[in-house]
Amino acid sequence: MDASAPSSGDSSASARFSFSPFAQHDFFTHVNQWIVDRVVRPAPETVVDLGCGPGAVTRLIVEKLDGVAGARVIGIDPSPSALARARADITAPWVEFHEGTAEHLSGLVPQADAILFLNAIHLIADKSAVLAEIRRVLKPRGRFAFNTTFFNGAYESSTSGFWRRWVVRAMQVLKERGISVHHDPLANRMQWMTPDEYGTLCRAAGLDPSTVELLRVDLPPECLADIGRFSLFIEGALPGVPLEIGSEALQLGLARALDELQLTSLPRYWLEIIAKAI
Ligand SMILES: C[S@@+](CC[C@H](N)C(=O)[O-])C[C@H]1O[C@@H](n2cnc3c(N)ncnc32)[C@H](O)[C@@H]1O
Repeated sequence: MDASAPSSGDSSASARFSFSPFAQHDFFTHVNQWIVDRVVRPAPETVVDLGCGPGAVTRLIVEKLDGVAGARVIGIDPSPSALARARADITAPWVEFHEGTAEHLSGLVPQADAILFLNAIHLIADKSAVLAEIRRVLKPRGRFAFNTTFFNGAYESSTSGFWRRWVVRAMQVLKERGISVHHDPLANRMQWMTPDEYGTLCRAAGLDPSTVELLRVDLPPECLADIGRFSLFIEGALPGVPLEIGSEALQLGLARALDELQLTSLPRYWLEIIAKAI
């Protein structure tokens, strides 16, 4: 395997295997707007967009707060390349972006009225510790919201085999090219939890999950292709495989899996949770 091929650690690779193309699909705006509409108020409040990435959600928050005197938006993300995109795209003086992680949130931002953590909580290893950080930063009666499609219950049972088949077919492509993938079950530590388990974790951190909803979306093939070009997805599906090679194998594997199952789109659920500081 070519050790010089890009990994997500180098910045040109981060830009090439960015989350942005996936984030531009209409359904993705829908699952995020749903939360923004319920959590962001047109008021002089401080709103934190945690795990803001290249700024797709930040943009929705900013649209909601545009023209509100005293509003402040703070985007936090560990990825310098994603932050560079966000800063280039969103230049309002009342919006700022800082490099950092959810694990250290209380050292990065002031007390906030609302914290949104969209499409990222599944990446967190110690969710209890991060929820405690979030609670620490929230003002009394502050709002916290998150969504994720990597949870127990995200698939319709009739299509659950597709996702496994996609990765198996991509691995087959690699094998045909003489590249072996050793699937280490510990390499992908993403933890899939049920909505109830998320609710229990919230309550334990002093956050009352007053709204728990599942939104169903239909993912078209072009959207699946874009997720197959996102660095974190490639690394999760094909651990240790260079991004360029992994991405190409996932594209070919996707075509094979869709063809075999005669699928033209994939239903999937987004878990949406809104909680209040107790
Ligand atoms: C799939 S993207 C979602 C970006 C944005 N929230 C959205 O919904 O469009 C996940 C983001 O979480 C960020 N991330 C990963 N680990 C994180 C951590 N420990 N704390 C905060 N953000 C993290 C990644 O850098 C990435 O930008």
